[in-house]
This record gives sequence, C-alpha cells and structure tokens, in this order.
Amino acid sequence: MNSKKLAGEKAVQYVKDGMIIGLGTGSTVYWTIKKLGELVRDGLDIRGIPTSKNTEELAIEEGIPLISLSEIGQLDITIDGADEVNPDLQLIKGGGGALLREKLIASISKRLVIVVDESKCVSRLGRFPLPVEVTPFGVEITSKQLQVLGCTPKLRTKKDIPYKTDNGNYILDCSFSSISEPIELTNKINMLPGVVENGLFVNMAEIIVVAKKDGHIDYLQ
Ligand code: A5P
Repeated sequence: MNSKKLAGEKAVQYVKDGMIIGLGTGSTVYWTIKKLGELVRDGLDIRGIPTSKNTEELAIEEGIPLISLSEIGQLDITIDGADEVNPDLQLIKGGGGALLREKLIASISKRLVIVVDESKCVSRLGRFPLPVEVTPFGVEITSKQLQVLGCTPKLRTKKDIPYKTDNGNYILDCSFSSISEPIELTNKINMLPGVVENGLFVNMAEIIVVAKKDGHIDYLQ
C-alpha cells in the first residue's frame, strides 16, 4: 500500500465543482493532482494555481485549467504536503524548496488541507531541518544570524552548487534540536533582513489527512 498515494487521492473529497484550488508541491500531493486530472477529464470544473514550476508542469500535463494569482483575490482550498506535522496542526514545509509560494497561496486560501503519510507525524517539530528561503546577497550573514536563534544552518546544494528556488533565492536548512515555540520562532526568523520566508506554517492548516501503513486514514483537525 502506497501511503502517499492513499493520502493524496483521499483529499480530492474536499474539491467541488467551480472551485479555485491551490496545487501544492511534492510526492504526496502529486497523487492529488493526478486524481484531479482524472476528475477534470470526467467533467469536474476547477481552476488551479500551482505552487511551483514542477507542479505547474504536472497540472498542464494533467489538463487541469490554470488561473493566475492576478486574476483572483482568494482560493477556495489549497491541498499540499508537509515534511512534519504536530498534533496542533503546525507544520514544517519546504523540503521541496517551494515554501514561499506554498505559504503565500495558503495564506489566501479559505482552507488548507495537508496530505501526509504517518512518517511525517511528530509530537514536537524540529527533527526535520527547517528550510529557510534567503536572499543570495549576504547569505553568510543571514546564516550567522540564524545560528544565534539556536540552530545549525546548512546551505542547500544541488550538484555541488547552491540550490536556487523558483524565486531565485537560496535555502538554508536549519537544524534545531526541537522547536517548542513555533509561533515565536517563525516571527524571530522572519525579522532577519535576509530572510524571505521560513517553512514553519503556524495556524494555517485546517485538516491533515494522514495515511497509515495499514491503509487506514486519520483526520487531524
Ligand atoms: C515542498 O516545498 C514541500 O513543502 C512539500 O510539500 C513537502 O516537502 C512534502 O513533500 P513530500 O510529499 O514529497 O514528502
């Protein structure tokens, strides 16, 4: 049983005709997008807003009609994955590097539904290094400033060169031993001038669809 597929496909139950949908990024929501493609081919009338270039390509391949952010004020729903979720529905996201667009789109969505397999559930956030999107300019300074907040930042690389986000920025993956106060931490991180956004999603998710290895689904809400 593929738990990512199970969680991803299950979330289409929240999608209704006429909706504008934020399309998340990653290997779990991949299955949501594939399923939505099937439903669109069967007549479902929706418009999607992708959270990354990869997702945009997938949505186009699947024949999901897209709409641009400049044409709308609000989305009905966003469905997205996460790297960690805690019982208070706080999240770490950005393992795929799309955190800025994901957070921006989630922030103007009436509902944020998260799809994960059970390996993403933790009692306290922080095992997964927190992705922080930063400007390339002054990255060494921003890294030192983040260190002062109690973490070990590591510049994300791809083929030995700095990984660049869809927005042309870098990612610092910040290892905290654990994150006990996510709201305070997100505010402190975002105060730093070189930080564009961080991967803590606090008080944003409404429902988390968790697929278990045995095929059962839990809903955290
Ligand atoms: C993308 O930047 C991330 O926020 C993803 O949503 C997150 O990494 C989950 O990805 P998977 O579903 O591939 O684990």
